[in-house]
Amino acid sequence: MDISRLTQRLAEAGQSHLLQFWDQLSPEEQADLVSDLENMDFKEINCFFTNAMKTSTQTKQDNVDTRMEPVPREILGSVTRDRESLKDWEEEGLHCISQNKVAVLLLAGGQGTRLGVPYPKGMYDVGLPSHKTLFQIQAERILKLEQLAENNHKTKCCIPWYIMTSGRTMDSTKEFFSKHKYFGLKEENVIFFQQGMLPAMDFNGKIILEDKGKLAMAPDGNGGLYRSLAANKIVEDMERRGISYIYVYCVDNILVKVADPAFIGFCVRKGADCGAKVVEKTNPTEAVGVVCKVDGRYQVVEYSEITLSTAEKRSSDGRLLFSASNVANHFFSLPFLKDVVNMHEPQLQHHVAQKKIPFVDTRGQLISPDKPNGIKMEKFVFDIFQFAKMFVVYEVLREDEFSPLKNADSQEGKDNPTTARQALMSLHHRWILNAGGHFIDENGTRLPAIPRHGPAGTHTPDGSQNLKDGTDLPIKCEISPLVSYGGEGLEDLVKGREFHPALIIDESDVHEQVRNGL
Ligand code: UTP
Repeated sequence: MDISRLTQRLAEAGQSHLLQFWDQLSPEEQADLVSDLENMDFKEINCFFTNAMKTSTQTKQDNVDTRMEPVPREILGSVTRDRESLKDWEEEGLHCISQNKVAVLLLAGGQGTRLGVPYPKGMYDVGLPSHKTLFQIQAERILKLEQLAENNHKTKCCIPWYIMTSGRTMDSTKEFFSKHKYFGLKEENVIFFQQGMLPAMDFNGKIILEDKGKLAMAPDGNGGLYRSLAANKIVEDMERRGISYIYVYCVDNILVKVADPAFIGFCVRKGADCGAKVVEKTNPTEAVGVVCKVDGRYQVVEYSEITLSTAEKRSSDGRLLFSASNVANHFFSLPFLKDVVNMHEPQLQHHVAQKKIPFVDTRGQLISPDKPNGIKMEKFVFDIFQFAKMFVVYEVLREDEFSPLKNADSQEGKDNPTTARQALMSLHHRWILNAGGHFIDENGTRLPAIPRHGPAGTHTPDGSQNLKDGTDLPIKCEISPLVSYGGEGLEDLVKGREFHPALIIDESDVHEQVRNGL
């Protein structure tokens, strides 16, 4: 194999070390390495590295918190403070859906390293009574919403679902959907596309080898979305389908209201080109990014970029001044998305994430470092707020809409399968109570609406054991999204009835009897 041209290109780019083990590779490994390297634009990658490192140093010295302004009330919609408008917004959103104007875009290209499973996060089963995966829950919410819009407007409709995967998640994601017959959705309305990958680099800008003939590659962040929309001609597909509004979200939030009609309706009524859903930050030291204005433009400022005194500032009503926590649920109008993809994308800078990246040293030994030895470069989906002409923010309740799955149960007590499962069951428990149903224990005594904190070793209403003091286990209760999207339509099924946990309400119950009902 003649690799003289490649050798020269690598030398010019300062990346000659990538061929240091060439003579030790098998012919197949050599061919794979050449094919990986030939597809790479080293000039561009080196440029990304230089700019990302520069931006990262600048951000640290930037004192952004002296220039931050909170989200003004006039662009803010809130499910608690604007209750009188909610119905209207929801009807507007359902109307848009019924007119086939709404598409859903899922960001599912992450590696899920903290969760640590070898398959895409959407395929994860958090241990609900039904054992539904995140993908299935989201697919069923889309199906239900189509049905609600159809019933309201007496017309057939469809919400196309665009799913961004990465080189690491594409095949398994597609296979999973195919195996499960697209969870009842039409195959042609589930559109997969793949985001780009970038090599991990050491702190001197050298690409890291994870094996003698293999580069350490990682997806280029959820903001890689915009480049991959262009590469895969997705905006054109949306135009062909007559889409006007796009709802973007992350795969890991078990409570996500996919294509939330009230959020969409609010954005449409406000004439917004870009919108962000947020939950209220109530603790100044919570590690979340907040939506705010900096130098007259909207952006998300990371918790690490602001001082404690700024984080602790309060407005006259006692709430934190910077309280709009980003939950990565966005609304884009199609013209806005098109401008981002066609014009603004190159202006987005990569962020630097310092990571421990396994590598082969000069002797060919595989090393797993115990401290960060390099960087991954990522763009973020929210970095485009700055280009919006009419930006709006929509505040929702965390307990109703946000419980992300980030960590494994063993690692952290936060954002793990247990917290995700409990958040969903606790929400569904409240839906049952609000619809007039009740839960009773084995003696027929009504269970309290607010689950008690049992001491260690005692038994909880669902029969499981409290593991430690103060463990707050919700009643085991799960309602299929095919029965209710957001708590609606449950009265006929549960009003005035008593149930033993665990309770599952699924589509068969709509026709027959609710299981466990007395
Ligand atoms: P996270 O930043 O939490 O990353 O992604 P992750 O990959 O899920 O988990 P870790 O950090 O490796 O543990 C937030 C959302 O953005 C998507 C993820 O799939 C998730 O929905 N994402 C992230 C992408 O689509 N592409 C990426 O390159 C990174």
